[in-house]
Amino acid sequence: MDLLIGVDIGTSGTKSILINERGDLLASATEEYPLSTPRPKWSEQDPEHWVQATIHTIRQVIDKSGVKADDIKGLGFSGQMHGLVLLDANHRVLRPAILWNDVRTTDQCRYITETLGNETLLNETCNPALEGFTAPKILWVRDHEPQVYERARHVLLPKDYVRFRLTGDVAMEVSDAAGTLLFNVRERRWSKKVLDGLQIPTEWMPPAYESVDICGRVTAEIADKTGLKAGTPIVGGGADNACGAVGTGIVSAGKVSASLGTSGVVQAHLDEPSADPAMRAHTFCHAVPNKWYTMGVMLSAAGAFRWFRDALCQPEKWQEDNIGANAYDLLTQQAAEAPVGSEGLIFLPYLTGERTPHADANAKGVYFGLTLRHGKNEITRATMEGITYGMRDSLEIIRSLGVNVSEIVATGGGAKSNFWRQMQADIYNAPVVTITQAEGPAFGAAILAGVGTGVFESCEAAAEALITPDSRVEPDAKRAAIYDRYYRVYRDLYPALKPQYDAVSAIVEDVHGGEA
Ligand code: XUL
Repeated sequence: MDLLIGVDIGTSGTKSILINERGDLLASATEEYPLSTPRPKWSEQDPEHWVQATIHTIRQVIDKSGVKADDIKGLGFSGQMHGLVLLDANHRVLRPAILWNDVRTTDQCRYITETLGNETLLNETCNPALEGFTAPKILWVRDHEPQVYERARHVLLPKDYVRFRLTGDVAMEVSDAAGTLLFNVRERRWSKKVLDGLQIPTEWMPPAYESVDICGRVTAEIADKTGLKAGTPIVGGGADNACGAVGTGIVSAGKVSASLGTSGVVQAHLDEPSADPAMRAHTFCHAVPNKWYTMGVMLSAAGAFRWFRDALCQPEKWQEDNIGANAYDLLTQQAAEAPVGSEGLIFLPYLTGERTPHADANAKGVYFGLTLRHGKNEITRATMEGITYGMRDSLEIIRSLGVNVSEIVATGGGAKSNFWRQMQADIYNAPVVTITQAEGPAFGAAILAGVGTGVFESCEAAAEALITPDSRVEPDAKRAAIYDRYYRVYRDLYPALKPQYDAVSAIVEDVHGGEA
């Protein structure tokens, strides 16, 4: 039987999976690595950690499953988007990678918008200049580390750097290239207009393939370290969100997903590059050849719930550590005791600024509406509701683009809980379904490898054959109506607080900005 490997280079760790042509999971392995935040707003990683985690986890899935290397037909990568990996002329890494959730580049974003104008950005890149994207990171290095910039010769993204180390070939593919802000997303090629406008050398950008194209083969040295066969093909793979879409079947018009992971992502497949004219949602090239997708990204979704657990829920953490309980289950039970809408308590989940719809690094978390009647149950429920209102913001933009949202595929940690799935259905006012394949982006990457090596005819055919529905919940009309009223208040809170967000950010910058 034909076997495939999918590797997801994530922010907290790398996960490799081995599947067969029926989509069965034969083995999976994950290796975590640190994230470094040497200054406020910074988020960096050592690319070597990704490479080592990839080698180790591939080795583990091959060893655990006992399969023959000959049967592994191909490998695909998925990766955290936007991260800047700068290489010198000898392909050596010049500085730690600057990641998608690093928000140091506000000045460079302003410069890009002033230099190019919103119209060029919309026409060429389909997206606004946001702190997380790659182009402003390149300009930040130019502005602040000229000695590094001078030596730079190649720009790669996280998964493409790992593929380079496995194959020796420098390459990128369209779904990740789309997140650099240097790519013509409509025409699926590098944008000379944007590169020239920002004076970034075009020759620093690698060739951009379609995600299913083979763009390298495993070297003998890596074969030795991983147990793969030398020459095993590696396809372009895709951005984690594009691979996540492939792995959850978001590969045809009308398909929408909502992923509650560390970040929150609401995504819809597009047959054409129909960008949000206000550029609140992103439009990127899909990993499905010649297709696109639109998505809204919340920077702290289930990540805000994790913060809540870690910062404020010591008793639940204690029970998890000492008597084998699951802290999230305990918190969800408490939330279920509180009324719908948490009796007027509303949480704004902007713990690391916010991307969609506000594009504001200064936005911050808030509990609004606290009274003496609110206890832990209400605060817990309000936290989950606030995160879900944030997801609805993205969904509303997708609806406004004319996408007919008939059901939503829920994925990520937040989809594991019945309670949170029902809350999502009520807040989105749409049926929420889950699928049996829970391997996310790594599964999508393995499918791309299967399409590229001829194991599957197309992404659409693979999705049809491999992805099966699991659960389905319908929205409750009464709860949906209550949530609708609270959601309107939620939407009004951010603009009301904007001046105070900016004022407090300025004070924090003055007092703590230079801290190492
Ligand atoms: C998307 C984004 C995140 C990362 C997470 O624009 O920044 O979803 O891809 O890995």
